[in-house]
Amino acid sequence: MFINFWYPIAASDDVVNKKPHRAEVLGLKLVAFRDEDGNAHVLADTCTHRGGSLSKGWVRDNCVVCPYHGWRFDKDGKCVQIPSLGEDESPPPRAKVDSYPVQEKYDIVFAFLGDLPEEERPPLVEVPEWGQEGWRANQLLVFEVPTFYERSMENGLDPSHNEFVHPAQGSPNMRKDLARQPMEMTDVPWGSQFLIKFDNKEKGTEALADVATLSPPEVTAGSGFVGPNQMITWINFSEESRFSQYFFEAPINEGRTRVFFVNMRSFLLEPENDERLTKVNAIVAQEDIDILGELDPVRTPPTPSEEVLIRSDGAVIRYREGLREWTDKGWRIDMKSLREQRGDRAFAIPCPARRTSKNWVQKTIPLLPGS
Ligand code: FES
Ligand SMILES: [Fe+2]
Repeated sequence: MFINFWYPIAASDDVVNKKPHRAEVLGLKLVAFRDEDGNAHVLADTCTHRGGSLSKGWVRDNCVVCPYHGWRFDKDGKCVQIPSLGEDESPPPRAKVDSYPVQEKYDIVFAFLGDLPEEERPPLVEVPEWGQEGWRANQLLVFEVPTFYERSMENGLDPSHNEFVHPAQGSPNMRKDLARQPMEMTDVPWGSQFLIKFDNKEKGTEALADVATLSPPEVTAGSGFVGPNQMITWINFSEESRFSQYFFEAPINEGRTRVFFVNMRSFLLEPENDERLTKVNAIVAQEDIDILGELDPVRTPPTPSEEVLIRSDGAVIRYREGLREWTDKGWRIDMKSLREQRGDRAFAIPCPARRTSKNWVQKTIPLLPGS
């Protein structure tokens, strides 16, 4: 798992007025809340007084209030009120928690979990179809996968599993001539992608059987990643009938992942199609979950010799190169060290303010040395 990328924290609908929302991402707890103007904020969850959980408290006057002794923290993570101090006393400067940059888009609250200044941050993936005429978004689908997020990302980058895991949904076969060549990857900033042709011998899914455009003899489809946790899948039945699917993945911890799935479509635009398309997406997601939940080991093995990768794993191999590049930058969390020290001390993901101000209470999450 890496610091210094954008992570989905919560569905917008789950961050409601007056009530803090708990999220666990990268193995640590975070709290999201809304101020009176409706802006969402994300802070580290651990109160610097004596370790209370801010997400179990409440929201007052644009602050999140710790439920243990009522200390109030503002959107910048600064403690602005301590009820048990005298009225003329201000909170000590060390009474502050990390506050993370936020973007709210596509009905999701995202936070940048890291300390990079704005101009150096890797991007949050754009959904260019969002709000465009001729495109429609399904309702946001949020689901949990009982596996490490890298396994989930690799599943999305794998063109050879569809015909085995999703046959009932009419998933097309990877063409044998393509399977014989190395996968052609096109690098993009912070990632890589591919688009290939699939033979579409199967019938479309039953739920969409009335849609003739879904059963052309050939389908162009592909996937790509941007950073360790953002994946896009394109399925083009024809020029007019296309899915662009965006998967924003939040590693909850080393064994679970929360996926925020934004599905854009350029056909069946009438709202009454939303429900059945959501149903198909949920079925497909469950088929993947059933496979991913059984993978052994839960995380990718430490050395490549502990698996046999072949040409159709080309995008997986490219993704792992990306992971190595970000490890070299010194952004990879040292999970072994974190596990060992857990329970004795609270850790926080460093926020950008740590670069300009000193005097923080929580230790920053341990990172593996870069190169
Ligand atoms: S632990 Fe949060 S106010 Fe005391
Ligand atoms: Fe799948």
